[in-house]
Amino acid sequence: MQIDVQLIPSTRLPEDLPSRTVVVFDILRATSVIVQALRQGALEIVPVSTVEEAFQAIKRFGPGTTLLGGERGSRKIEGFDLGNSPGEYNAGTVSGKRVILTTTNGTRAFHLVSTGAAVLAGSFLNAGAVVGECLNQKRDVFLFPSGDEGRFSLEDAVCAGRVIEGILREQRSSCLTDASRAVHALYQRFSKNLKEALTLSTHGRELLSKGLKNDLEFCAQTDMTDLVPVFKEGTLRA
Ligand code: MLT
Repeated sequence: MQIDVQLIPSTRLPEDLPSRTVVVFDILRATSVIVQALRQGALEIVPVSTVEEAFQAIKRFGPGTTLLGGERGSRKIEGFDLGNSPGEYNAGTVSGKRVILTTTNGTRAFHLVSTGAAVLAGSFLNAGAVVGECLNQKRDVFLFPSGDEGRFSLEDAVCAGRVIEGILREQRSSCLTDASRAVHALYQRFSKNLKEALTLSTHGRELLSKGLKNDLEFCAQTDMTDLVPVFKEGTLRA
């Protein structure tokens, strides 16, 4: 199995994407929110790129069973039901509901890599389960840390490194590209204190400055669920 990583999200995607298992990471906070919402019983998450698309989509589904969630500038969007804090996505609010989600980087990343053979949502919350799913699928793996408006992001790269660590534990012979070696080394640097990586990262510092410390602490938890969201036909389901 070969494991590659997109170090800089804005660079060209590999041509063999349709033959790879792809994992999208936006651990602060989109993919952590997606995992949490499905874990709390949401029916499905519909990730869309823009606020306009979200308002169009809710017209298609109708009110009552569908909620609008997401952020711009890390703040809840006017007219939306939910922001992008994992704590908001509890069973009382999302169970049995569809969530249309739009975030700055994470939700558009799923559309960028949608030609992957399978497209999964990864976070620290479900990293072990993502490793298991990558191994089950027996394809080459392409890890996509979605970064910050086209730039590298520390926290997503460290989480990609956590998945590499898990795959290597099971399959020592896996072939790593230079990018995946770099990301794996980064994970090893922070593995004993993941919260440190989150608090040092640019986006982590931005969230802290906005009083969102609880979100950082939530997203730094590891392996709290076996749930692996899969993106298919525009929708993420468990
Ligand atoms: C994103 O998609 O960039 C993030 O989820 C942003 C955030 O939650 O602040």
